[in-house]
Amino acid sequence: GSRGGGPGPQPRARRVLVFPLPFQGHIDPMLHLAGVLHGRGLAVTVLHTRFNALDPARHPEFRFVAVPDGTPADVAATGRIIDIILAMNSAMESSSSAAVTEALASAALADPRAACLFIDANLLAVHRAARKIGLPTLVLRTGSAACLGCFLSYPMLHEKGYLPPRESQLCTPVPELPPLRVKDLVYSKHSDHELVRRVLARASETVRGCSGLVINTFEALEAAEIGRLRDELADLPVILAAGPLHKLSSNSSRGAGSSLLAQDRSCIEWLDAQRSGSVLYVSFGSLAAMDSSEFLEVAWGLAESGHPFLWVVRPNLVRGCCDDDSVRRRRLPDGVEDAVRAGRGVVVRWAPQQEVLAHRAVGGFWSHCGWNSTLEAISEGVPMICRPDAVDQMMNTRYVQDVWGVGFELEGELERGKIKDAIRKLMSEREGDEMRERAQELRGKVEGCLESSGPSQIAIDKLVNYIQSL
Ligand code: UDX
Repeated sequence: GSRGGGPGPQPRARRVLVFPLPFQGHIDPMLHLAGVLHGRGLAVTVLHTRFNALDPARHPEFRFVAVPDGTPADVAATGRIIDIILAMNSAMESSSSAAVTEALASAALADPRAACLFIDANLLAVHRAARKIGLPTLVLRTGSAACLGCFLSYPMLHEKGYLPPRESQLCTPVPELPPLRVKDLVYSKHSDHELVRRVLARASETVRGCSGLVINTFEALEAAEIGRLRDELADLPVILAAGPLHKLSSNSSRGAGSSLLAQDRSCIEWLDAQRSGSVLYVSFGSLAAMDSSEFLEVAWGLAESGHPFLWVVRPNLVRGCCDDDSVRRRRLPDGVEDAVRAGRGVVVRWAPQQEVLAHRAVGGFWSHCGWNSTLEAISEGVPMICRPDAVDQMMNTRYVQDVWGVGFELEGELERGKIKDAIRKLMSEREGDEMRERAQELRGKVEGCLESSGPSQIAIDKLVNYIQSL
């Protein structure tokens, strides 16, 4: 086909529809996948909810359709992802169901006709609507292969008594899912475990019932985990590890394209003026939050570490504190203000993260270990301090520390002295250097995957052929 060579002059043979779950960590990989498929000559329509609606102007190459999802405003306002997933699905299965089917049907009939619909695993309601009109669905799993393995094993994990987790068993190994321990499994520290169980049962149903699965990971990173999925999901016609998608997609769908918050690019100029490998980048993704006392410890830890830092403080980072002014201005302690005035630190509301991680000045990443952040760090060879908060972040941390050896967990209560020590270890001690070397090796493996004969490119070739055959 027209791999890497752009669409060419001939009309696009088929269309794909994509419907991401409307959260940053799910929107980005779906639009990257859309970008990759568009680059291979397919027409793309992006379906999106009114909640966290996407901006069509940023992607002139795609067609956009807003789907009336019916998510109640009061649930959307909570920002609680589990509650929003359930409410959104339930509305799309009842009050908005006709509207969803209609939106899918008309998007699928646009010229050229749609071959299939890519959905997030959390959108069972959309999968069911697509089935009604005979449109095949493929699932894009935006998390790791290990994480999907955990979702699919949820009934077993309950039967065997690992879940819901008991305090006394948190360090018990789960031999069925090596190298995970009970505390690394997906469960919620913040909301009702039964809700998590319901959400994951629905996600598993979506995956088991779809016509193909694409996972944003790569063979060299998760060979065993991908192999286990192939055994477990042997009925699916295709299971493809096609990541890291942000490295495969065309320029227009990278970077700022699908950001829900505006990226502050001023930090790049500051990075340009810093020594190579000297800066610690600190970001906890789009959802993880902390108490104001923890926030102060982070701030003082950064201030007292003596290392240059770039810190993302988004509006809702501190629990119970939702506007920029209260978070950024009034609450930043003197130590951070001094560092900023001295040019040693920069605080932004939202950073161009992929560009930041690729910058030669960045030598370490303090992260919550969301899967996208983890993949982005690995892709640029940046070692990590891990501070997982929820969902898959605990298991991502386990892999970063114990399987790939490219970072370590900062455990227990957040306290400035411990933070300072962790930063020193990562940025200026031998252990940190060794992690950096391993991160560089892993980055080499990412590059191998992306080469024209590499496994991820071959996965995309297979995917395009499969789509054309539908
Ligand atoms: C959520 C879950 O928390 C995560 O565990 C799951 O794997 C995916 O969904 P999130 O918490 O937002 O995602 O984290 P992550 O997966 O790391 O995604 C955040 C995205 O936002 C990354 O692609 C990152 O590059 C981007 N980002 C983050 C920015 O562009 N700028 C920033 O300042 C911070």
